[in-house]
Amino acid sequence: MRIAIVGCGYVGSALASHWHQQAQHWLRVTTTRSERLVELAPLADDVQLLDAADPDQLRQALETTEAAVFCLAPGGSRQVDADGYEATYLRSMEAVAAVVPQLPGLHQLVYTSSCSVYGEATGLVDETMPPQPLEPHPRILRDAEELLLGCRAPHRRVAILRLGAIYGPGRELEPRFRSLAGSRRQGDGSSLISWIHRDDVVMALAWAVEQGFDGLINLVDDEPISVRELVDRSCRAAGLEPVTWDGDITRPAEGAGAPTGRRISNRRLRELGLELQHPRLPILAALLDPGAELQPPS
Ligand SMILES: NC(=O)c1ccc[n+]([C@@H]2O[C@H](COP(=O)([O-])OP(=O)(O)OC[C@H]3O[C@@H](n4cnc5c(N)ncnc54)[C@H](OP(=O)(O)O)[C@@H]3O)[C@@H](O)[C@H]2O)c1
Repeated sequence: MRIAIVGCGYVGSALASHWHQQAQHWLRVTTTRSERLVELAPLADDVQLLDAADPDQLRQALETTEAAVFCLAPGGSRQVDADGYEATYLRSMEAVAAVVPQLPGLHQLVYTSSCSVYGEATGLVDETMPPQPLEPHPRILRDAEELLLGCRAPHRRVAILRLGAIYGPGRELEPRFRSLAGSRRQGDGSSLISWIHRDDVVMALAWAVEQGFDGLINLVDDEPISVRELVDRSCRAAGLEPVTWDGDITRPAEGAGAPTGRRISNRRLRELGLELQHPRLPILAALLDPGAELQPPS
């Protein structure tokens, strides 16, 4: 198959590596930065300089491909405001919607969205639950999804994978939470965060393209963990001062995001037969196998 990966950062590069090693597909990857052309060259048959918000560049990149995987995100680890989100996600998906009618050979679109689109939804949240985003960022992601879903046609499938928070090599999560040691946090920290390892994102994206999947999948592991448990465990494991929670449940913990009581279901993922290599965070796996905590995540 001829495949383009649009946005080749943490996930896109790992997916490109996976396919490049398999050598079963012809692969194009893209970057917005000319200085990355050399770095990406070994991962693909072709590297194209591309801003996905530019319809002409996008048409050129996708003209000869049968499948496109969109893994783009505003660059870097900095917090991006809603304008930055719109510029990346909305403008790009508008460009996709504008050019796909001119690309009859493009049969499959796959997009890495986020579980944050569920917004205020509570309880056990599966893919049948309509997104209820109130905040600007998840609303933009929901709008981007809708633009992509509008590209469905009898000859064109659209798969949207709604990811939990990504971790993996180079993005280990315990150090992030350890930095909170000794601090005082608002709320009771009971919001659940769903996680997914980068290897499992790669596996699911490759599967979606190769199976020609059409539809939505929540891509999260088996065991969401509360912000409080994660912070407390991370600090305890590192022998650091615990965090103090002020216990006011009317105020969400900073960075908690999800409403209390929301749990993202991965039942559809399981029903589709996708096996997760990392069904739970290493810090939770360590409870089952105390030796596991000593091993770095792979
Ligand atoms: N990180 C998470 O926890 C998380 C959670 C849920 C969903 N997701 C989604 O998962 C996907 C992959 O995330 P990631 O962590 O791999 O992101 P990442 O490392 O930030 O990589 C995203 C890449 O998108 C490219 N990009 C940015 N603007 C672009 C544009 N206008 N046109 C084309 N490419 C553009 C950038 O490539 P260049 O710099 O080379 O141009 C960047 O490297 C994203 O869609 C993200 O929204 C992530």
